[in-house]
Amino acid sequence: MGCGPWALLALLCGVAAAVAPLRCNVSLDSPAEQRWLPVLRHFDPAFLRAAVARVIDESVPKWVHQVIRPIAAELEQFMPQPFAGEIVGLCQALGISLGDGILLNFAYESTAFCTSIVAQDDKGNIYHGRNLDYDFVDILSKITVDVQFIKSGQVAYQGTTFLGYVGLWTGQRPHKFTISGDERDGGRWWENAIAAFLNRNYPVSWLVRDTLSRAEDFQSAVLRLAGIPIIAEVYYIVGGVSPKEGMVITRNRKGPADLWPLDPLGGAWFRVETNYDHWTTPPPFDDRRTAAIKALNATGQQNINFDTLFKVLSVKPVLNINTVYTTVMSAAFPFKYQTWIRTEQ
Ligand SMILES: *[C@@H]1O[C@H](CO)[C@@H](O)[C@H](O)[C@H]1NC(C)=O
Ligand SMILES: *[C@@H]1O[C@H](CO)[C@@H](O)[C@H](O)[C@H]1NC(C)=O
Repeated sequence: MGCGPWALLALLCGVAAAVAPLRCNVSLDSPAEQRWLPVLRHFDPAFLRAAVARVIDESVPKWVHQVIRPIAAELEQFMPQPFAGEIVGLCQALGISLGDGILLNFAYESTAFCTSIVAQDDKGNIYHGRNLDYDFVDILSKITVDVQFIKSGQVAYQGTTFLGYVGLWTGQRPHKFTISGDERDGGRWWENAIAAFLNRNYPVSWLVRDTLSRAEDFQSAVLRLAGIPIIAEVYYIVGGVSPKEGMVITRNRKGPADLWPLDPLGGAWFRVETNYDHWTTPPPFDDRRTAAIKALNATGQQNINFDTLFKVLSVKPVLNINTVYTTVMSAAFPFKYQTWIRTEQ
């Protein structure tokens, strides 16, 4: 699926268009404060400032502004590296306050509706795909970037994010594992998240990035993602490189609520997670799960691959007006990591 022909086809036929985001390198060998500056040069600072202002204004409750902005400098010491340094550097470069940089990074944590799928084909290859659904599709589709984090000239890990947001909801450690995160709504999100943050729990997307940078294999990635305290409830979906290495982790703030592995020998060659516990029935007004399962059943285990997984993630309402991007990945084939910006309305 080449970008050019695909875009042309979309234009001619009026079908959904999908384009690849900017792909860029961020050097982990540079100081945290400076490493995003080369990426920022691809964007108009005035547009970015306006985008930050709108996202914060429309998604962060006013009382949270009043709590966070005055104590931003103190909060910096609650933030582990490299996150603190990167946020400081981005704020300085964009000319926004540290308080707004922190609020922005919380804003994206709070309401991401998503679909994630991990699947194993009949030869034992693992595929992992995700749709990220969010408000502000118009803004976010313009600042979505595929980032390769480079250490000593090698891709240490990579992921997809919104410029200015230092965590990852989607990422891959080459030849090891892939991770995606889907929101789990525990209610009273802001109150609980801020309390947990002050208790030094990690934002959920920071734990994804931390795991991509530290875990050496699928098992250790699952252990970290299941066990390390985080500021909000979430589903982590993990794919590995060997048969049976696929897992949906349902998280509480303190630890795992449930682990749901692939069971290919028992017939469960895929797992679908949207934003509801897998042991419950999704509400009829938001049943992306059944649509995805039907499409996977129709595809069949012998036919699942990057292209067919993308097609499953393009079935409505799995794909919907809030879908910002689709990523398909398989850690055993790291160069095939691919994100598509979804622009259909
Ligand atoms: C990113 O880094 C990789 C590994 O060092 C290199 O092969 C690639 O050319 C770089 N890409 C860009 C766009 O600089
Ligand atoms: C998918 O296939 C499985 C196994 O044949 C079946 O149990 C399940 O009901 C199917 N689900 C849907 C939504 O088609």
